[in-house]
Order: sequence, then structure tokens, then C-alpha cells
Amino acid sequence: MEKNRLFRRARAFDYLENEDRYLTADEPPELRFGFVGCGMMGQEHIRNTLLVGRASVGGIFDPSRKSSAHGLKLVEKAGHPVPAIYTSLEEACADPATDALIVATPNFTHLDVMQKVVGSGKALLIEKPIATTVPDAYEVCCLAEQHSNLVRFGLQYRYKAIYAEAMSEVFKRRSVGHVHSVNMLEHRFPFLDKVGQWNKFNAFTGGTLVEKCCHYFDLMNLFAGGAPETVFAVGNQAVNFRDFTYDNRKADGIDQAQVTIRYDSGVIGGFSLCMFAPGSREDLVVCGDTGRLQASEQTLPGASLENRVEVWQGENGASRITTPSYPPHISNAGHHGSTFFEHVAFADDLVSGKNTGPGPAEGFWSVVVGAAAQQSIEKGAAIDVVDVLPAAFENGLLQHNGMEILP
Ligand SMILES: NC(=O)c1ccc[n+]([C@@H]2O[C@H](COP(=O)([O-])OP(=O)(O)OC[C@H]3O[C@@H](n4cnc5c(N)ncnc54)[C@H](O)[C@@H]3O)[C@@H](O)[C@H]2O)c1
Repeated sequence: MEKNRLFRRARAFDYLENEDRYLTADEPPELRFGFVGCGMMGQEHIRNTLLVGRASVGGIFDPSRKSSAHGLKLVEKAGHPVPAIYTSLEEACADPATDALIVATPNFTHLDVMQKVVGSGKALLIEKPIATTVPDAYEVCCLAEQHSNLVRFGLQYRYKAIYAEAMSEVFKRRSVGHVHSVNMLEHRFPFLDKVGQWNKFNAFTGGTLVEKCCHYFDLMNLFAGGAPETVFAVGNQAVNFRDFTYDNRKADGIDQAQVTIRYDSGVIGGFSLCMFAPGSREDLVVCGDTGRLQASEQTLPGASLENRVEVWQGENGASRITTPSYPPHISNAGHHGSTFFEHVAFADDLVSGKNTGPGPAEGFWSVVVGAAAQQSIEKGAAIDVVDVLPAAFENGLLQHNGMEILP
């Protein structure tokens, strides 16, 4: 058995002298990360950085003292060296001790932060959505293209156990044959509280279908194997935050939607969103000419996570039901383990020089579908994707890849 992280973390071996440790020997982190934005997601990134153990926390920048204090506490509690507390983004960028910056600031700040961090030359892991509008997303991609180091965007749902398995089934095992339709569903609890409540307002999020659903549109784009051509959506603010105001602004994020997408690969896609469900449930259904795959993940209130992948092959092969999962300490570290594996891949790529994505192309096209869907709801009409692309758009820059992270 190889040395691995699982043994290293086990407290049961604390009685051993260091010279008697092999499987459980500590290995010093080879990388150092700076953190920009240390709210809910920044803290999840710190937790996972420490859990993976490949990088140390070099510094934190967040204008909210409470957020940075919570990030600091996570590092101290884990017994790691106290990180620097930067007083500006410029200071975070200039720290020669860090290899990468992990950016987890609100959506509407991403372009501005990107404009500043590209000069740092450091590797970047920037949260989704890459920006709140298509032109801004394109600008982020152009900046990423010029950047001298790795740029990764936070579409880490690709690493959820059910979707990693679904990718393997569809692309490696070819379990459903040629894909013709992709459907997804997200039914969940309302948006949570945030610093400044930015997530209740379209001007700060890009709209719910950009903010939250870019994860699902990224997966749909991936399974559809093409670029979105036409998007039609209906949706409204049916239940949540209808009486909510903050800084004299009225919450305007939609909480339910149905989205239909036609891809240039011939694949048709459908997405259902409900954000007032008393629990959380995700489904992916991929239908091909020789089989059907359904991947689902649900947490009923008070119950633990249930994962399931069904493959129906009829007379084409063995049908099966599996329950893909990660060990609980990984699954509980955030977003059902996907953030942990996002960090493993990021560290692997930094060390190996590979770039396994998701990068600018995936980030861009996921925003394009979300923004086109928001526009479709406003206009009450189908949107041709070419009409939302910026005038300067060059397709060559943003070709789909995204297959490289297949497990
Ligand atoms: N990948 C995922 O699954 C996932 C999940 C949740 C949130 N997110 C994304 O992460 C980002 C942060 O979301 P959150 O839930 O942590 O929000 P949050 O409000 O909890 O935290 C945001 C933090 O950023 C800080 N901040 C604001 N402007 C800043 C700036 N210019 N520089 C440095 N810090 C700044 C705020 O003070 C706050 O502490 C958003 O883009 C969100 O969409 C991603």
C-alpha cells in the first residue's frame, strides 16, 4: 500500500516516534496559496487546502475583518503556521512567498480582481461564475489568455462523485452510445446569507441562472459535446425574498426556472430549477442511442447524502445501479467532496505543469447559457446565442475541451 493522506491524518498513530513513521509520515506542503475573499467559499478553500495537505496558507486578504478572522482561525485550529493578513489585493499579489491565489470574492468583483491579479504572474483559482455578464466573461477570458500561469475556474461540480462517474460512463465506457439529450435538475433550499447580501440581487450575481446554475450549464455543455446555439427559458421569483430589501434595494433574483437549450452537436437539453425546496436534489439524465444514464444526489432534511448512478443498457449490455461516494471527511469538507478533488487537481497541475481545466472556455460557455436564459425570461422569447456574444468574440480562444479531467 502506498503512503497516503488517509493514514497520515489518523490520530491513532500520534503515539509513534517520527522515525517509526512511514505510512503515516508527515510530508511538508510543496506549495503555498494566498486567499482573496474569505467568506463561506474562501473558508471552504482553506479547509480543503489543509485537508489535501499539498499547500500551506501563506496569506489572506478580505476587507471584512470577521471573514479574515474566521479564515485565520481555521489555520490556527489545524496547528499550521499563522498566515500573513494582507491589507490590500496588491499586497497579496506582491507576496513572493505564494505560488497561487485562490479568489473567492462576490461575482460582481471577478473582472476587477482578475484585472489586478493577472499582473502577479501567480497561478489562479477563481470562483465561478467567471463574471456576471457575457462581455465581462469574455474580458476575463482574454486576460486569462495573456496570463503567464495556470488559470482555473471554480466549476468543481465536475468532481462530484456522481458526475465524475457519469463522465466515465458516457465518455470512457460509452455506456449510452451517441448522446442525444441531456437533462438536469436542481431543487434546493434558498440562497443563504452572504456578506452584504450580494447574492439576492441580479446586478451583483448576473442573475440566478448565471450565479448558481453556471455549474449545471457547464455539465450540460460537457455532456452535449458542443456549443449552445439557442436558449429558451421561463422563470420568476415565486417564493423567496419577495419582501427582502437591503440598502434600499429590493431582491430580484428568480427562484424557479425551466431552460431549454439546443446545441450545435444536435443534442437537446433541459434544466429545471427550484430554490424553495426543503432539502436538496440534483439529477442528470443523459440519453443516447444505446442507453440511458441517470445520476442523482439528494439530501433530505436531517438525513445524510444519497448518491446513485443508474445505467440502463437494455439488450446492449449490463444495466447497473451504483452508489458512488467519497470518504465522509472528504464529502463533508464542502460541496460533497468536489472542492477537495478540485484542490487535488489544482496542486497536481501546478506541480506537473499540466492544465486539466475547467478553464476559460468552460467558464465562458457556462455564463453564456445562464445569461442567454436570463435574457430569454426577460424578453419572453428564444435567444440565439450569437446575439449575446460580444462583437470581438473569437471562437478560437474558447474551444471546448474539458474532457481532460476524466477520472
Ligand atoms: N464553487 C462553488 O460551489 C461555490 C459555492 C459558493 C460560492 N461560490 C462563489 O464564491 C464566491 C464567494 O461566495 P461566498 O459564498 O464565499 O460569499 P461571501 O459573501 O460569504 O464571501 C465573500 C467574501 O469576499 C469578501 N470580498 C468582497 N470583495 C472583496 C475584494 N474585492 N477582495 C477581497 N475580498 C472581498 C467579502 O468581504 C466576503 O468576506 C462567489 O463568486 C460565489 O459565486 C462558489
